[in-house]
Amino acid sequence: MRSRLILLILLASLATLPAHATPSPSPAPSRAAEAEIATKVSALMARMTLAEKIGQLNFPSLAFPYEDQLATVRQGRIGNMLNVVNPVHLRAFQDAARASRLKIPLLLAIDAIHAFHITFPTPIAWAATWRPQLAQDAAEMIARQTAQNGINLTFAPMIDISRDPRWGRVIEGAGEDPFLGSAFAAARVRGYRKGGLATAAKHFVGYGAPEGGRDYNGAQISLSELFDRYIPPFEAAIDAGTETVMASFNTVNGVPVTANRALITDILKERLGFEGIVMSDFAAIYELINHGVAGDLAEAARKALNAGIDLDMTSKAYERHLESAARAGEVPAAEIDAAVRRVLTVKYRMGLFPDSPGGVRKIPSPVSEASVRATARAVARESFVLLKNDGATLPITPQSGTVALIGAAALATSDHSWYGPAGLKKPETESLRDALESRIGTTQDLLFAEGFADPCGLSFKDKAGALAAARAANLVVLVVAEDCIISGEAASRADLGLTGVQGEMLDALAEVGKPIVLVVETGRPLALTEAVEKVAAVMVAWHPGTEGRTALAEVLTGEVAPSGKLPMTFPRSVGQVPISYGDLPTSRPATGDRYTTGYVDEKPTPLYPFGHGLSYTTFAYSDLKTSVPTMARNGRIEIRVDVTNTGTRAGHEVVQLYTRQLVAARSRPLRELKGFEKVALKPGQRRTVRFTLAAADLAYHDDEGRPVIEPGTFDVFVGGSSTADLEGSFEVTED
Ligand code: BGC
Repeated sequence: MRSRLILLILLASLATLPAHATPSPSPAPSRAAEAEIATKVSALMARMTLAEKIGQLNFPSLAFPYEDQLATVRQGRIGNMLNVVNPVHLRAFQDAARASRLKIPLLLAIDAIHAFHITFPTPIAWAATWRPQLAQDAAEMIARQTAQNGINLTFAPMIDISRDPRWGRVIEGAGEDPFLGSAFAAARVRGYRKGGLATAAKHFVGYGAPEGGRDYNGAQISLSELFDRYIPPFEAAIDAGTETVMASFNTVNGVPVTANRALITDILKERLGFEGIVMSDFAAIYELINHGVAGDLAEAARKALNAGIDLDMTSKAYERHLESAARAGEVPAAEIDAAVRRVLTVKYRMGLFPDSPGGVRKIPSPVSEASVRATARAVARESFVLLKNDGATLPITPQSGTVALIGAAALATSDHSWYGPAGLKKPETESLRDALESRIGTTQDLLFAEGFADPCGLSFKDKAGALAAARAANLVVLVVAEDCIISGEAASRADLGLTGVQGEMLDALAEVGKPIVLVVETGRPLALTEAVEKVAAVMVAWHPGTEGRTALAEVLTGEVAPSGKLPMTFPRSVGQVPISYGDLPTSRPATGDRYTTGYVDEKPTPLYPFGHGLSYTTFAYSDLKTSVPTMARNGRIEIRVDVTNTGTRAGHEVVQLYTRQLVAARSRPLRELKGFEKVALKPGQRRTVRFTLAAADLAYHDDEGRPVIEPGTFDVFVGGSSTADLEGSFEVTED
């Protein structure tokens, strides 16, 4: 076996680019402009005092009263601010920068993630559309609203891969898969940038793999896995032009990333060639003391700078300690200069200086609320995932008879998630009840009962009324929601079931005996095993945003067909996590029998696999063909398949391509996503979908993190989920 192993060390960027990566819409300044920027930065730095240089590395959060901060900006000791949202304050800060000796403009950043004013579905829902273009459009709209105000940087996208739904921040990412995650990382960076904001790809790296799913906890990740699974979205974001990268809070293999030179300087800056700014996360330099790698803030400052952290977000470590450390010779001046050079270079590249060689930053024209809403609706429509639909219970039609809509969430007009719209009047939002009433109210009876005292079902309200409505109806639609405060940062869960009394309500409704449609608003995969047994249909609606309930009513009534697919596995129980379709094989492949990989008290398979999602029609796959039976390690292959709409309704299907390398020097995942395309098909319509794979797309990483293309047999699977069973194969040869 070993004799067959031939390592081909490729340029890392070539080997791991997503197949469909496209150039950034805001290309980096030309070579000539770059040279001019370098000259200008050198000239500017030659005029800077040490204190002014350190000011450029200082990144505090707005604190009231802010007159002191304005004065510090005027002194050139604050070069960047976060959380300034009010346009008056934003102008005051840029005016203060203009009044400083060197007039260096500020980076002004907020977490414009899925909302500025109109709230979009959360990013996990963007990924569930499996249409990166929609994510790009969403990001662009959010950026255009945000940039109008004077903000120039967003702390997004979060592109951490995670196989652990206990970790609350899966709501901000694109799920478990590096290929899907890379496509969405690039799309989101392109969108925010197109909309006028610089981006912060975060959190480099391994933040999505905390032990126990506990936020901020450490991760143990081999170099090979780091490059195979966690780094690809960052490469995609860099390739798409992200100006900044945020380091993660946690330890990786025992060393906090904020003090981890091997990760930040050797890998991110040198190996991946990232030339922009690396910032710490909020107070992360200070927290090196909590991690036990620094005795005090001064030591934390030295370690972070040495690791390659250019910007100190809110720790005041650089502000307070770098000047004296540099004067005492404890910190090389070259390290400070290198960080300052990066900050100034990015500010020139962004066009913040009036004499920026690539042109001055242009803020895109204001966008109408109608078009932001239309984009938010388009994203929501395609994000809902129909997990189950026995007996074609959905869509709701006149034949469904009287419908009982139950759940306080059906009255809700705001989202159960973090980072809401920034300080503006709440946009008008239609509730699910109103949206359904206007669609089916004229053809059939829609009964309604809140059932719960709050949208997240923490306690009952008129349970008897809910049961009476169910008895009087032919179909029950129960809306459940993950507890409002338990998705997002610092929101890890040890239990992934329905919260509060929602499970109890479902049990009681199931006793009534009418078919139940369960609508689940959630920020993460939940363990719904017991719940799904009691219902006929399950629709995952995520947290759908301002236009989301209208879109949900459209999909529930069949005006729009559901077309979302899971970007993350839904486990049967918490004990199964971390869980992924892309696990490695084991010595005893999981069959469910004793002495095979699995549990004595749980099935080895997930409740719903990655990539799963139904439509109101059905699709059949046939005629899987590869263009050639073999390809060399510099070759390409085309794989094509026919997909047919075999039902009676129009629909969209996400055609997914997976590969498995059968024999290699390392165990290779049971399946790896290598291509996907969403296609629209009318009833009876057939289409041929083509994927092109380069041998380089099949590379994995060795113990040193070097890409390897190893000759051998690859199985190919094509279908509508990660359990696709239409199978073919091809060989990769040495030459
Ligand atoms: C989060 C970051 C966020 C930052 C600034 C931190 O707690 O981890 O993702 O961008 O705060 O708000």
